[in-house]
Parts: sequence; structure tokens; C-alpha cells
Amino acid sequence: SESLLGQKNELLFKFLVIGDFGVGKTSIIKRYAEGTFSSVYKMTIGADFAIKSLMVDENTLVHLQLWDIAGNERFGSLTRVYYKYAVAAAIVFDLSRPETYHSVKKWLSDLRRKVTLQNEEPLPVVILANKGDVNYCNIPNEIVDFCKEQKILNWFITSAKENTNIEAAFECLLQAALHNH
Ligand code: GTP
Ligand code: MG
Repeated sequence: SESLLGQKNELLFKFLVIGDFGVGKTSIIKRYAEGTFSSVYKMTIGADFAIKSLMVDENTLVHLQLWDIAGNERFGSLTRVYYKYAVAAAIVFDLSRPETYHSVKKWLSDLRRKVTLQNEEPLPVVILANKGDVNYCNIPNEIVDFCKEQKILNWFITSAKENTNIEAAFECLLQAALHNH
């Protein structure tokens, strides 16, 4: 039946945002879902989520459930629970802390080991090189090859602070989720 808004279809997609502590996962989600940014670091405990709703065509309303998973959860056993029913993921690292890029591989293997789509295909993934506004940033030169080898959809230099490429990154995951739906 048609809702009050008049659209005919309503979809819910669960997206994961993962990566080491302090790389900017909460900030990226806040920027995208609420349009705000704070420079005060408040560590996420466990997991949290936000909803972003958008019309993808005149008949279809999509609710993106953005799961914000605490960086320190990679060392816990709960990620399997948090990953359940996810249809796409963004793996974030911090351009000003190279060690967080090395963790991208660990997050990706944790993800690939624990979750696949219903059709057994791997989850669509993008990599976000965040804090691109910080001027001492170093882009890892093997990232292009890594993305190709690992079938990463795309990678983006992002800034939650300056709102750079955040929408583009989620749009990429949204298109993949719509395609797989
Ligand atoms: P955990 O919850 O511990 O896993 O961390 P997180 O990945 O959620 O990081 P969070 O979003 O809390 O950001 C950590 C710190 O980095 C905060 O002080 C943010 O303000 C800052 N930060 C996040 N994104 C950016 C960015 O794009 N540019 C700059 N300059 N700072 C950022
Ligand atoms: Mg957080």
C-alpha cells in the first residue's frame, strides 16, 4: 500500500562502517546522516547506528541503517553479531596515521570471513582514506593494486570535517546494494 509520502517502495539496507579507533567512523556517519562535525573525540563503545533516509527514484524510499562499530571491537568476538544482515561496508583509515591503513587488511579479512551476501557473493566494500583535510597526508601507493586484488568497489580520500567525498562513498555502496537487491 502507498504511504503518506506517495512512494510505492520502501527498502532497508544495513551498511557497516569499520576501521581502527579514532579514524573517523562516527564523524563520517554524523556528517552524512546529520550534516554536522565535532572535533571532540568521544570513543564509541560497542556499536551504534544512525539512519539516513533518501528517495532513490520517485517511487522508492531507502532507509540506510549505518552501523558504527567501535575500532577496538576487532579484538572482540562481537563483530560477527554486528555484521549480520549487512549488505555493504566502508572500511576507514586515517591518512595521518599509516598504521591504520595496515589494519584495513585485517578488517577486510575479518569481514570476508564472517559475512557474505545471501547469494554467497562477497559484500560490496569501499575504502575511505579519511582526514584528507590534514596537510601531512600520505596516500599508500599500493592502495590501487590492493583494491583491484581484493575486489574493492572504489576508494576515496574523504574528510568528515570538510564534507569531502562522504556522499560519493555512500552513493557507491547504495548503488551496489540496489544492484544486488
Ligand atoms: P572509535 O569510536 O574509537 O572507533 O573512533 P572513530 O573511528 O569513530 O573516530 P571519530 O569519528 O570519533 O573521530 C576521531 C577524532 O578524529 C575526532 O577528534 C574527530 O573530530 C577527528 N576527525 C574525524 N574525521 C576527521 C576528518 O575528516 N578530519 C579531521 N581533521 N579530523 C577528523
Ligand atoms: Mg566512533
